[in-house]
Amino acid sequence: MQVWRARSSAILTGSGTLRVDDPRLDVRLDYGPWVRQPLRVVLDTESTCAPASRIFHDGHALIFAALDAPERRGMPVRTERVPRSPRGLDLEAVVARLGQLEVNELLVECGPRLAAAFLEANLVDELILYVAPHFLGVDAPPLAALAGLENVRHLARFEFHDQRLIHNDLRLVLTPKRA
Ligand SMILES: NC(=O)c1ccc[n+]([C@@H]2O[C@H](COP(=O)([O-])OP(=O)(O)OC[C@H]3O[C@@H](n4cnc5c(N)ncnc54)[C@H](OP(=O)(O)O)[C@@H]3O)[C@@H](O)[C@H]2O)c1
Repeated sequence: MQVWRARSSAILTGSGTLRVDDPRLDVRLDYGPWVRQPLRVVLDTESTCAPASRIFHDGHALIFAALDAPERRGMPVRTERVPRSPRGLDLEAVVARLGQLEVNELLVECGPRLAAAFLEANLVDELILYVAPHFLGVDAPPLAALAGLENVRHLARFEFHDQRLIHNDLRLVLTPKRA
């Protein structure tokens, strides 16, 4: 995962992951000066995330909030404003803005809600899944909160592109099916 992070221009997550995991989402590779930290991006519709969140530790981060969300003082990084969508922010507007900021490879490391939204918006070029044995039980968290057969089509448009055993995890890479 560290290599995927290192090659991306930005790593994006949702406020849900920020609250539960408080991740740094930085690159931890011992390659000396070659390692460049990607921009860290948080989707926080109501502008409620904690200023002390670890993702802001180096100041190389950006928050996206709704156009009408309250102004926050004392946030350690800049907030960009985009329109709302039914379940949060308008992801096309987020991606378009990141494009303007010269983000050309975006790694989304998020929970099931945001993953579902990116899939529904047809904004995913590649899915990278790590399957550990303990994720094979009934209590395993879903990849994406896509309920019902109707919504499974968002995953059915992908095909397996690569599989690799990494220690005791299986890494699967899926890409959109070719026409
Ligand atoms: N296995 C993994 O690799 C991995 C990676 C990351 C997280 N996780 C797990 O995922 C869990 C958190 O999942 P989550 O689903 O609550 O968090 P999430 O998917 O990271 O974030 C969801 C939040 O993003 C915001 N959001 C903004 N725009 C959105 C849109 N258009 N559609 C949907 N959401 C939008 C919403 O909050 P606002 O309304 O506040 O903006 C929403 O509640 C944690 O348990 C964490 O450990 C697992």
